[in-house]
Formats: sequence, C-alpha cells, structure tokens
Amino acid sequence: MGQNGIKFWKYFKEYQWSNVYAMIKNNRKHPKICDSDFNDKLVVITGATSGIGYFVAKKYASKGAQLICINRNKDKSEALKREIENEYKITCDYFLADLSIISDTHEVAEKLLKINKPIDVFIHNAGVYLTKRELTSDGIEKVFMVQYLSSFIINFKLRDKLKSQEKSRIILVNSEGHRFAAWGLRLDDLDWSKRRYAGLKSYGSAKLSQLLSMLIFADFFKGSGVTINAMHPGAVKTETGQENGRIYKWYKKNILDKTLKPASISAEAIYYLGVSKEVENISGKFFNLTTLEEPAPPALDMDTAKRLWELSITMGKLK
Ligand SMILES: NC(=O)c1ccc[n+]([C@@H]2O[C@H](COP(=O)([O-])OP(=O)(O)OC[C@H]3O[C@@H](n4cnc5c(N)ncnc54)[C@H](OP(=O)(O)O)[C@@H]3O)[C@@H](O)[C@H]2O)c1
Repeated sequence: MGQNGIKFWKYFKEYQWSNVYAMIKNNRKHPKICDSDFNDKLVVITGATSGIGYFVAKKYASKGAQLICINRNKDKSEALKREIENEYKITCDYFLADLSIISDTHEVAEKLLKINKPIDVFIHNAGVYLTKRELTSDGIEKVFMVQYLSSFIINFKLRDKLKSQEKSRIILVNSEGHRFAAWGLRLDDLDWSKRRYAGLKSYGSAKLSQLLSMLIFADFFKGSGVTINAMHPGAVKTETGQENGRIYKWYKKNILDKTLKPASISAEAIYYLGVSKEVENISGKFFNLTTLEEPAPPALDMDTAKRLWELSITMGKLK
C-alpha cells in the first residue's frame, strides 16, 4: 500500500464523531468579548484592506493599538490609513508586499526585523480562495503560497526577534476548511500537478499546512513569552473569491453571502485571542472563534509537520 493509503487508515481511525459534533455546536457560538484596552501596543496584520483584516484593524485601533498593515494594494492601503488615523487618532502604517511572491515576502520580513519595538500581536490573515489552479511567478501553487508559505516565511524569519521579546502572540487566521484535507497532505504534490485541482481541497491543504507548521513553531517558542495559535474566524461575509470567474461570483453574491455572518464577529474573536489574559499561556491550539477545539487528525500529525517544515524551508528559500 502506498504512503497515502497508510495515512488514510491512520487518520480514519483517529476521527471521532464527538469532535465533529463539537465543531457544529461551536459554529453556533458567539465569540467571547475582551473589553481591555491595548494602548500603544504594536499589532501587525496581513491583508487589512478588506474583509476580516479590515475589521480587525479597526477593532485594535479602536482600543488604542498602533498598527502596521501588510497589504498588496497601495491605494487601498492609503485609504485605510487615512480612515483609521482620522477615526481613532493612532498610527496606521503599512508595508506593501504581494504575499504570493517569495522575494516580496522576504523583503517585508526584513523590514519587520528592523523595527525596534516589540511586536505585541502578529495576525496572519491575508488569503485567497481560487476555483482554478494558478502558479505564482516562483512556480508555487498560489493558494498554498498566500495562505500558508508566506506566513511560514515571515514567522521563520522573525522567530528569534519574537522569542527575544518578553511577550508576543501570533494568531493564524485559519479555517474549519482545513477539514477539507480530510486524508492529510500530499507532500509529494504540493503544487497540484499530479491530481485534479479543486478549490476546497487546495484551500484545505493550505490551511492544514499552516496548522502543521504551528505545531513546530509552538515547540520552538515553548517556555518563552511567545504564543502561536490558529483560529476559525466564523463563516463571514467578505470580499473573498473575487479572483474567480463569473459563476462563482454570482453564487457567492446571491447564495453564499446571504447565509454568512458579519465579519465584525471575527474581529471580536481575534481581539480576544490577541489581548485577553484568559489565553495568555495557551499555545499551539486551534480555536473556533474563541472556543478551543480539536482540529482534524491530520493537523496533529507531527511526522508530516516535520517533513513539511523541511520542504517549506527549501520552497521558501530560507536555507
Ligand atoms: N470569510 C470567511 O468566512 C472565512 C472563513 C474561514 C477563514 N477565512 C480566512 O480569513 C482570512 C481573510 O479572508 P477574508 O474572508 O477576509 O477575505 P478577503 O475579504 O478577500 O480579504 C483578504 C485579504 O488578503 C489580502 N490578500 C490577498 N492576496 C494577497 C496577496 N497576494 N498579498 C497580500 N495580500 C493579499 C487581500 O488584499 P486585497 O484587498 O488587495 O484583495 C485582503 O486584504 C483568509 O485567510 C481566509 O482564508 C475566511
């Protein structure tokens, strides 16, 4: 039996209905609310120009935090900066980076390394959902790059800086969608050249990859004041999927969007996870909004996590 057959049976045995019921129950819960202020703390957010990232930026700004947003679009970044600085009287800086490009991702990480203030909260939020396979200019499948590898590169490059700080919290805006990669990662086909591409599967694999990397980062940060956690931000109405064709966009606007919640709930949850004392010492965990939840079995596979780690170092040009 091939390696994937073995994994199939391994994971199959680990699946428990109780975890699926817990997820369904948690999907109906509201996020816990944190009322504390976050005056003058530094918060970095990727993809703050729309959707969840935009609401998250406003939430942290409304509590007094200083922001650095990592966005790809200059006009949108300027508009966001003006809006937030006028409304909340805090500083909202931005660095431009296309997180589908490896060199841009390295450059932005270098800029972050030069900041001589501690980063109190780092929110990896930028993401795409594609119904058709696309390769980046570096030859990497785009969803894998934006949803996972860019966050890996930045965390990897910043790991010593963060560890040297007294405290920091890294939040990965992940998804229940990691469950679409139900039988695990195909490490031999991360670019989807050997299988038929499907949007949900590639999205699931990228989110699963991020959860696997979290296991190793959490080990690395153990005993320091740095925590790293992942979360599902709810099924919320955002601009996601705009790169796709007309049929998808019609479906999203006329059907999907009508079932979705406002992205302000995601912002409340991400604020709670970044600021609340209640999660101060929790690391390496998955939250559904603010409820701790067991991720799918492939997301706890340390052996795959280690192999993915090595591959990510090579793919991300981090050697
Ligand atoms: N919406 C949901 O229900 C839901 C559920 C589970 C998880 N999530 C996750 O939540 C995160 C945010 O998604 P969203 O729903 O808020 O989508 P969104 O409205 O499309 O926002 C995505 C953000 O990422 C940025 N971005 C996309 N590609 C980029 C690139 N190559 N380089 C730099 N920035 C890039 C976008 O910039 P532009 O403004 O320039 O496009 C935008 O700011 C994603 O990780 C997504 O997977 C969302």
